[in-house]
Amino acid sequence: MTLRYDDTFMFRDALDQVHGLDPALHATLGARFADVRAEVARRTAGGDYGFMKLGDQPALVRRLQQWRTSLHGRFDHLLVLGIGGSALGAKALLNALKPPAWNEWSAQHRNGVPTLTLLENVDPITVHETLQRLDPRRTLVNVISKSGGTAETLAQYLVVRQWLEHAVGEAAARQHLVITTDPDKGALRAIARDEQITAFDVPPDVGGRFSVLTAVGLVPAAVLDMDIAALLAGAAAAVRDADATELAANAAARYAALQWQAQASRAANVHVVMPYSDRLKEFAEWYRQLWAESLGKKVDRAGREANRGPTPVGAVGATDQHSQVQLFIAGPFDKTITFIRVMDTADMLVIPSRPELPAELAYLPGKSMGALLDAELHATREALRSQGRMSSTLELGTVDAFHLGQLMMFFQVATGYAGVWYDVNPFDQPGVELGKVLTFKAMGRAGY
Ligand code: PA5
Repeated sequence: MTLRYDDTFMFRDALDQVHGLDPALHATLGARFADVRAEVARRTAGGDYGFMKLGDQPALVRRLQQWRTSLHGRFDHLLVLGIGGSALGAKALLNALKPPAWNEWSAQHRNGVPTLTLLENVDPITVHETLQRLDPRRTLVNVISKSGGTAETLAQYLVVRQWLEHAVGEAAARQHLVITTDPDKGALRAIARDEQITAFDVPPDVGGRFSVLTAVGLVPAAVLDMDIAALLAGAAAAVRDADATELAANAAARYAALQWQAQASRAANVHVVMPYSDRLKEFAEWYRQLWAESLGKKVDRAGREANRGPTPVGAVGATDQHSQVQLFIAGPFDKTITFIRVMDTADMLVIPSRPELPAELAYLPGKSMGALLDAELHATREALRSQGRMSSTLELGTVDAFHLGQLMMFFQVATGYAGVWYDVNPFDQPGVELGKVLTFKAMGRAGY
């Protein structure tokens, strides 16, 4: 099923006739799209858009399924070490595809499927407390770093390896490790090779923040018994949809074009993604990194200083109606809001009545909580519209593995298209690399 994307409220004629995009842009952007599409095709042929192939990985799916079977019953916990693109995807998968508070469920309720803990930072309190809480004898550790040399992840690895060895001994500790990294390069690959530790590859032509549908996200997904084949099928469907030649029929490309245009002509520098679903809270965080790191660039494609990029913001409805939405409705006209509406909870959880209910609450009983959530989305969208604020809405049937893969690939493809509209390279991250190099220097790494 195709994701439905409604951009009506991005345009002036649906807002207050003053703010928003000029409806004439439908035609202008549509006419330019052929060139944008050709540029994406050219860069794809040049090897830049490797993530677009990720819907088709049958060999990896088979290997992961067999490997997962071989782990059966050995581990209660999966501990992921990684940062940025090597962590945010797995977090989003856990949040979307497992019930809330998964780690607090008993092993019996989890049906023997492990808990998942992610260590992203090197805050010693977090690391220490996490290692206090988990039983190393029952923990599988997935060390994830595409480069294989990121200081945070490698420092965690050294601490966690010692923790494992103290508990189970040097030889057995290796059986508690699985490494996800570049197929050839980097320190982690060398460790995996030298010590014969199970390892999975991060394809060299897929960047960190585009890697959730590689082994980076799929190893944790497989351990947690998620339907990885369905995730990839959803991604493949999104790639097919994003191949449409007309902008009007190509939702991912239209999303990219309109966000760019809103910044270019309406100074909408802030791009909010606001799912009305707790299941997509971490997805919004994942999107934030994807959009920020891909489009925030000092130079354009010709190498001229440009300092481009939107500022992505994550929000969750209805919670943020009582937090950030006041700013979205009444603050500067510098934002677009993208709502994500999930359709599967409309009839869920009917609100009960009580004999002594005050008359002012009589409107609630008999309605479902899902209907309330949906009414809040419509109300917020209308409140924004009435105040001349640009918004658009993506509709999702449900949040299962297929739809999540589809949603993730939708935004990855949109980011790829946005790179062309913004005229920047969406696949490098020189700012992040600079921080890494200065950290090496500050820590006295040889050669820096
Ligand atoms: O998207 C990116 O390239 C970055 O955010 C990386 O994912 C992050 O810096 C971690 O890098 P690595 O996976 O090499 O440890």
